[in-house]
Amino acid sequence: MTQRITIRRPDDWHAHFRTGAMLRLVAPHHARVFGRAIAMPNLVPPVTTAAMAREYKKEFDFLADEQTSRRADERKFTPLLTCYLTDGTDADDLAQGYEDKIFAAAKLYPAHATTNSAHGVTDVKNIYGALERMQKIGMPLLIHGEVTDPAVDIFDREKTFIDKILAPLRRDFPGLKIVMEHITTADAVDFVNAQNGAVGATITVHHLLLNRNDMLVGGIRPHYYCLPIIKRARHQIALRAAATSGNAWFFLGTDSAPHARDKKETACGCAGVYTGHAAIELYAEVFDAEGALDRLENFASINGAKFYGLPVNDDTITLIKQPQTVPDKFIADDGMELIPFRAGETTPWSVA
Ligand code: DOR
Ligand code: ZN
Repeated sequence: MTQRITIRRPDDWHAHFRTGAMLRLVAPHHARVFGRAIAMPNLVPPVTTAAMAREYKKEFDFLADEQTSRRADERKFTPLLTCYLTDGTDADDLAQGYEDKIFAAAKLYPAHATTNSAHGVTDVKNIYGALERMQKIGMPLLIHGEVTDPAVDIFDREKTFIDKILAPLRRDFPGLKIVMEHITTADAVDFVNAQNGAVGATITVHHLLLNRNDMLVGGIRPHYYCLPIIKRARHQIALRAAATSGNAWFFLGTDSAPHARDKKETACGCAGVYTGHAAIELYAEVFDAEGALDRLENFASINGAKFYGLPVNDDTITLIKQPQTVPDKFIADDGMELIPFRAGETTPWSVA
């Protein structure tokens, strides 16, 4: 008998959609299954004000249009926008944007930590005023948790961030709702568990499926390069245990990060793995392998909404254990090529 599982419609609490042709290509992939997705603000230029977020949101309008949207499911999709924090963030605009439901959260990128983070925060003390306001109004702070000190090894940057920045921040803002995004280490799992629900964490499906051997043994695979970088197997095992633990503070966030093929397959490639085309199927593969399919719904469809204080989705999707072949590539309407995770290979699970 074919295995199948029906779960409440999931949400993606961390995704990159970009703008223009790339957004028109990837947003329908997410909208196919996810009810909502937190849309990252690291655009060029970054989304730093409520007015910019209002403009950005309009780019998603084509999904709601019955003429251009292919499927009824896509029309239900809601992007949740975030504010890119800078040293100069205006706390009033931030709070007003949250009150007006333009912003669902604010994102802390340490300056130069990752793609388009040059305008990020140079010292977390510079945003203490904004954090004070966020704590007061219950606005979530989403964190890219890596230090940028060139002296710190790239594989240690998450742990050092926890020790040097995040732990003190927790002490200074005990009531601030924090999501540690895309955790990649056993150290992050331990830190988040120790906060007992005050700190949430998203876990990507590529960090669950891969360790650094997959990226580097037998040839370098640029489409597995992302930030925070994929770690050794011990960390992958800890992440898989956390995601399937049933702990309410771990939830789904793909960090699906599309880059044009020529920006990945080059001498100095961009960071980002594109999983938006088959994300829920890939998570199902992990939960199945861990014997934890009964916990997929909590991780994918319940925990995140509860952490954000939002209602869960009111409809369902069904996954079946039936292989699907991933296309070799996707082509945007301007001709740009995008190489998806598992390009040309199969995933064991499909959406019915
Ligand atoms: O791999 C990544 N890609 N990590 C990030 O933090 C940013 C993202 C992107 O925007 O491409
Ligand atoms: Zn991201």
